[in-house]
Amino acid sequence: VSSGPLSKTKVNSHPSAARAKAEIRSFVLEAIGADQARVFDAFAGDGRMCAAVWCRAKVYVGCDLKWYRDDRLAYACDNRRLMRMLDLAAFNVFDFDSYGSPWHQITILAARRPMAKGERIGLVLTEGSGLDLLHGRVSGPLRHLTKARARFIGGAGFRRGVIEQAMAEIARRLGGRITQRWETVGRTGAKIRYIGLILEAV
Ligand SMILES: C[S@@+](CC[C@H](N)C(=O)[O-])C[C@H]1O[C@@H](n2cnc3c(N)ncnc32)[C@H](O)[C@@H]1O
Repeated sequence: VSSGPLSKTKVNSHPSAARAKAEIRSFVLEAIGADQARVFDAFAGDGRMCAAVWCRAKVYVGCDLKWYRDDRLAYACDNRRLMRMLDLAAFNVFDFDSYGSPWHQITILAARRPMAKGERIGLVLTEGSGLDLLHGRVSGPLRHLTKARARFIGGAGFRRGVIEQAMAEIARRLGGRITQRWETVGRTGAKIRYIGLILEAV
């Protein structure tokens, strides 16, 4: 994992996805400042990332389809319904650690949470569309965010291009630009990408 300006981003494989995910979240938390960070964790699960990193944030609110009997403040529901009604401006760090594609949820974020002047937000995502994109299959949300059609020839370059376009479009819709980025690619054939971004309002 590397930190620094977007132009210097490096993509590394990593032996431990959990460690990489926690590292990326630590970088995002550090960049925003733990005492300033108000985290919305859309795929909160059993709380590993909360225990590893987000517990240091000023505010933490999770969401998961499943209710976990623990101390976390969390909604137990479909995050897409929640994100369409919640005041998302109450948060400045958004974690989308989905099993598959997080773009539906990120699209809702971009529509409902324009950045205010001078604001910075952290965005963390687990991008699991790798195999589909490799084979030229593009999901609905990714088609809406990019110029890709439902079926393409695919390939590694195509996959990379679609994800880059989607991130650029999300930044544009939020009214920001990506100023820092950390990324790790999983070692399995699925090529899951773990990405952390800092956006600054433009
Ligand atoms: C990869 S796990 C998240 C792990 C978590 N970040 C952690 O630190 O332990 C993905 C989670 O997303 C939840 N999930 C899947 N679809 C969801 C949805 N539409 N709304 C809310 N939670 C969802 C699943 O129940 C699962 O717990």
